Amino acid sequence: MTDTKRLLAVLKGERRERPPIWLMRQAGRYLPEYRELRAQKGGFLALATDPVAAAEVTLQPINRFGFDGAILFSDILMVPWALGQDLSFGAGEGPRLEPALVDTTLASLERVTARLEPVYATVRGVAAALSPETTFLGFAGSPWTVATYMVAGHGSRDQGETRRFAYNDRQAFAAIIDAITELTVEYLAKQIENGVEAVQLFDSWAGSLSPAQFERWVIAPNAAIVAKLKARCPQAVIIGFPKGAGGKLPAYARETGVDALGLDETVDPEWANTVVPEGMPVQGNLDPLALIAGGEALDGAIDRVLAAFRDRPHVFNLGHGIDQHTPIAHVERLLARVRGA
Ligand code: CP3
Repeated sequence: MTDTKRLLAVLKGERRERPPIWLMRQAGRYLPEYRELRAQKGGFLALATDPVAAAEVTLQPINRFGFDGAILFSDILMVPWALGQDLSFGAGEGPRLEPALVDTTLASLERVTARLEPVYATVRGVAAALSPETTFLGFAGSPWTVATYMVAGHGSRDQGETRRFAYNDRQAFAAIIDAITELTVEYLAKQIENGVEAVQLFDSWAGSLSPAQFERWVIAPNAAIVAKLKARCPQAVIIGFPKGAGGKLPAYARETGVDALGLDETVDPEWANTVVPEGMPVQGNLDPLALIAGGEALDGAIDRVLAAFRDRPHVFNLGHGIDQHTPIAHVERLLARVRGA
């Protein structure tokens, strides 16, 4: 008997003897078939806005490995693009948003929400093609993380420019967070209405904030998104991933209303298991570098994660996105071990 949608079942609170598995950034540069299609299309944005190609990229890791979840191929920076910033992904450098909000006001940007339409077309294409065992995941960036790119115009190691902006002009920063929050609800609702079955909120830079700032810019906006999204789509299943939250994880889990909690690789799984609310599904948290290392180091790291979450609903994943230098054979070894093959 096939266990259909085992990932979705676990996200809704059921436990499985063998956890379902998918990997953050599973569609991407470590796959030769991805690199080939990206070269053909001429770049990341051309790929992400071509619904046929983006659907193909979404399905590449499913076809190759048979993961339990397919994550929509897109990017968290589609929302700033739709809010009116220019978006580019130069070869060998990080993404750029122009004009940066340190140089201009939010009000001067002209919204182009039609820029999100190709994403919804991709969602429909994937939903029509996906086999019934596989759960389809959508996603968006959380407001704080998206704001760090919008304000600085690029990524940074410590998000210093945006943290300063939030202190120096709290009102203007709150308006940026509110604008992202509002469009993100709309964006995720449309992903769900077009066929995704659960969504993940990526707060990749949640770890850079002091406790009071974390309450204000991580917990509050994520809680607002969860409440508004569930009001519009009562069936919404939401994974929150506050990377780097550390000791603030229990507060995030209790106060945001997310259905499942993503853990990064710095979190001790044994500790997490004791502080996360009983029965709440967790996702994670193998170190992406253990996956690159392979061999016995990888096996030991996998077993520690499996053992820690043996008694609760658990989705196996990395603690952060898969690195582009990860050998395919190590991904195969990971899948075999998690599945007990
Ligand atoms: O998980 C998936 O396979 C689905 C697609 C996905 C992408 N980006 C595609 C992508 C997802 C879920 C993201 C999320 C994302 N994007 C985050 C949050 C998660 C995280 O890793 O922290 C962030 C911070 C971004 C912003 C972003 N996009 C950066 C910093 C970069 C450049 C550096 C990098 O990691 O590649 C991107 C580009 C990007 N987004 C690529 C892919 C496959 C690489 C583009 C290329 O092909 O050159």
